[in-house]
Amino acid sequence: MKLSANDIIGLKNKRKITMLTAYDYPVASLVDRAGIDIILIGDSLANVVLGLTSTTEVGMEEMLHHAKAVSRGVKNSMVLGDMPYNSYQVKEQDALRNAKRFIEEAGCCGIKLEWFERCPEVTKNITRAGIPVMGHIGLTPQTADKIGGFKVQGKDAQAAKCLIDQAVILEENGCFALVLECVPDKIAEIITKKIAIPTIGIGAGVHCDGQVLVINDMLGLFERYTPKFVKKYADLSSLILKAVQEYKNDVIEKKFPGKEHT
Ligand code: KIV
Repeated sequence: MKLSANDIIGLKNKRKITMLTAYDYPVASLVDRAGIDIILIGDSLANVVLGLTSTTEVGMEEMLHHAKAVSRGVKNSMVLGDMPYNSYQVKEQDALRNAKRFIEEAGCCGIKLEWFERCPEVTKNITRAGIPVMGHIGLTPQTADKIGGFKVQGKDAQAAKCLIDQAVILEENGCFALVLECVPDKIAEIITKKIAIPTIGIGAGVHCDGQVLVINDMLGLFERYTPKFVKKYADLSSLILKAVQEYKNDVIEKKFPGKEHT
């Protein structure tokens, strides 16, 4: 059975929570088999899979298409759909309808959404409908232009207070966990101690209750740009390139197919 929001909350102060993104069936199956707690179909899909330049360029249909494939591959991990740009910021009814689509059409266990002005009301409306919501504060890529770009957030006292307030408000409005992206580790520590729900850090230091990375970054499968907070656990780009070149040479040199493949 897939992990629930309550299972994830129950891990706080017991052990660190693990989370990765996945965008398709084969990778999601492996991440699930490896025992990762939460799998996010991130809107990073735009950059690392679809070759677009901004997460604001993917919509509900693309996200659902990938979310369905991920759900089919997962037995135990909690699967979360990332609400894409404009799927929850414009109208409250749209936000709830789109959140429901992740659950009902794509088999997700919950959704994630990024902080914006009306985030508290929208979150409350979705959690009241029984859908687990993971909040996302700090660097929120969908609105990066409004927060000074792709930079560490909460660096001065006022900005730090603002982040702490956002975390408390999201907890009050029913979030079961929060992503803290590009937040100074001291602020992440304060937030983690202040709220009862787990914090999942990305570029937010070691004090968070858990960690998340974009899987294509940590597997070395996205060559365009690697953020400083990423640790590469593999170099799949080189492996794939080598295998494909070997195949090409084998075909040209008539070494493939051999008798055993015929
Ligand atoms: O879209 C994404 O992959 C994310 C993670 C970085 C948390 O939001």
